[in-house]
This record gives sequence, C-alpha cells and structure tokens, in this order.
Amino acid sequence: MSDDLVIEAVDLHKSYGATQAAAGVSLAVPRGTILGVLGPNGAGKTTSVRMLTTMTRPDSGTARVAGLDVVADADRVRRRIGATGQDATLDEALTGRQNLVLIGRLSKLGRAEAKARATELLDRFDLTGAGERQVKGYSGGMRRRLDLAASLVTRPQVLFLDEPTTGLDPTSRLRMWGVIRELVADGTTLLLTTQYLDEADELADAISVIDHGRVIADGTAAELKAAVGGQQLEVTLSAAHPGAAGALSPFVTGAVSLSDDGRHLKAAVPPGSGTATAVIRALDAEGIAVDDLQFHHPSLDDVFFALTGTPATTADDAVAGTTDPTPDAIELEEVPA
Ligand SMILES: Nc1ncnc2c1ncn2[C@@H]1O[C@H](COP(=O)(O)OP(=O)(O)OP(=O)(O)O)[C@@H](O)[C@H]1O
Ligand SMILES: [Mg+2]
Repeated sequence: MSDDLVIEAVDLHKSYGATQAAAGVSLAVPRGTILGVLGPNGAGKTTSVRMLTTMTRPDSGTARVAGLDVVADADRVRRRIGATGQDATLDEALTGRQNLVLIGRLSKLGRAEAKARATELLDRFDLTGAGERQVKGYSGGMRRRLDLAASLVTRPQVLFLDEPTTGLDPTSRLRMWGVIRELVADGTTLLLTTQYLDEADELADAISVIDHGRVIADGTAAELKAAVGGQQLEVTLSAAHPGAAGALSPFVTGAVSLSDDGRHLKAAVPPGSGTATAVIRALDAEGIAVDDLQFHHPSLDDVFFALTGTPATTADDAVAGTTDPTPDAIELEEVPA
C-alpha cells in the first residue's frame, strides 16, 4: 500500500443476513484530498464508512487508515480519525458546549483544554450563540455543524463525513461546503459520502460511484463525464428538412436522433471539437435554416444515469426520501465512449 494513501480499502465485503451491503468495495484517498463516495439509497455508503471507521468489522477484505489496519489496529485508528454522520452521537439533553467539553474529556483532554477547544469550535461553526442551549432545540443545520465540530475536538488528520449536508437548506449546505474546504486547505484528508451530484462535483478531488455494494466507476468528475461521452449537440431547425440528419452526420460520433416534429436534432459530438460554425455552414449549404444550436456537456447526472440506470437524487427528493430500487449496474467499460 502506498504511503501517500491515507485511506485505502481493498475488496471489502460485509453482509447483513442475506443483504450484501458491501460486495467488494475498494477505495483510495491520497493525503490532503477529498474523495466523494456517491451512490443512491442503500448503495453501501454508510456500511463502507462504518468499516473504515472501525464501527463494524468487514467479513473480508482489508483496509488501512493513516497507515493502520482497521481491524488489527482498530483502537489506534479510532484515535486518529474523526467521523460524523448517520450514527451521530450527540447527547440531546446537553447543551452544544457541554457536548463538546464531554467529548474532549472522553478523549483525555485536560479540563481547561477541553473547555478552550469547545469555545474555539463553537466559534468556528457559528454556534457561539447557541452554545448554552440544549441540542434537542437545534435545527438540522446546527446539529450537523455541532456534529462536525464534535468530530474535530481531537484535531484528526483524517475525517469521514457521512452525508454531511443531507436535509440541509441551500444556505446551510453552502456554509458546510465552506467548512469542508477549509478543513482540506488545512491538510485534512477527507472521505465524504453524498447522494448529491453537485456536492461531489464541487468538493471532491475524485469520486467513487457506488451501487449495490460495489464501486462501479471512479475518477475525477471530468473523467467520469468523459467516459459517458463527449458533448451533446442539439439543433433546432426553423422547419423540418429531410436532409438535416445527413448534413449533421459528418460531425457526430453516433446516431442523430430526430424529434417527432422533425425540427429538433440531437447527437453526441467529440469533446472540444468546436464544430458549431461548421455545423451551421453545412446546414446552410443545404438551405436548412437554424433557429438554435446548443452544446450540452454531460453532467454528473448523465454519468450517474448511464452507470446506475437511476436518475440522480436531487436535494428536494432526498429530503422527501427516495428509496427506489436500482437495476443491475452497468460496468463502466460498457458505457459508450
Ligand atoms: N445493520 C444492518 N442490518 C441489516 N441491514 C443493513 C444494516 N446496515 C445496512 N444494511 C443494509 O445494507 C444495504 C446498504 O446500506 P447502507 O446503509 O450502507 O447504504 P447507504 O448507501 O448508506 O444508503 P443511504 O443513502 O440510504 O444512507 C442496505 O440494503 C441496508 O438495508
Ligand atoms: Mg447511509
């Protein structure tokens, strides 16, 4: 295993009865970077994080975090990492400040140090005003921030955030993104799970797409998009014309799809080909008038759809809670380039 990989999982398996929650998960996170683990409900994200954070033992496979084996060296791993997420363990009856001090004391900080650290973290997460209130009165966004603050009490160099922004309103999400960026700027290595494509696109240096307990694709957002195909060309004609598809065909990589009214044409074109002018000239040469021409870059949505056959979750769906079962995953190799 490479020294530069702060988190490395190789072929992790975990079953709960007949459910294969992880069916061979391999992940790698270089020092000082963010890996986004992207997947729909039930994909195995939390299970993977739980194995990496020593909360549950893999059935098979190996994982190292900060150079330590998560099974053989579980105690030492636990002392080096911070984790937040769906298993959040804040004490509802205590105030925000009391929670942070308690975690500091449990982590063997001295009384004065635990108090100072609590004050510093409340301030950093804009919770100073709420610090003396019981957690049970906190909003979702405040809770997430306190949860993240709690994971930072011991100044861990490796952080696992399980869906850090699920259910947050747009303002709270942006604020959380800012905090996450600051942590990485300070040198923290971070693995975050998310169902939000924009979050992975914005924050992650690399993305692993997980579905049905398996990593079905990984790479940078740009690489994943490139694997799905080049750009999508969309042309709207002033009027249907029988020669339009033929005129487009020299510029496109696959078939040209034609709308029912014959006015809208769509096709994939090679990336970065700058074909707009050539397309318009070719259509013009055939006497075909164009109303509109657009290039659309594949989005992570297109990637997710191509890989999982499932439309990606939007922030709105996720709040409402979608649990649609997904069809069998398509291997990345089978996705047309
Ligand atoms: N403790 C458990 N007991 C039984 N089944 C479990 C347990 N934990 C997870 N599972 C099952 O394993 C599968 C993967 O679950 P997991 O929580 O890892 O998914 P996830 O990707 O985190 O989903 P979500 O986006 O909904 O949080 C699911 O089918 C889930 O029902
Ligand atoms: Mg989960």
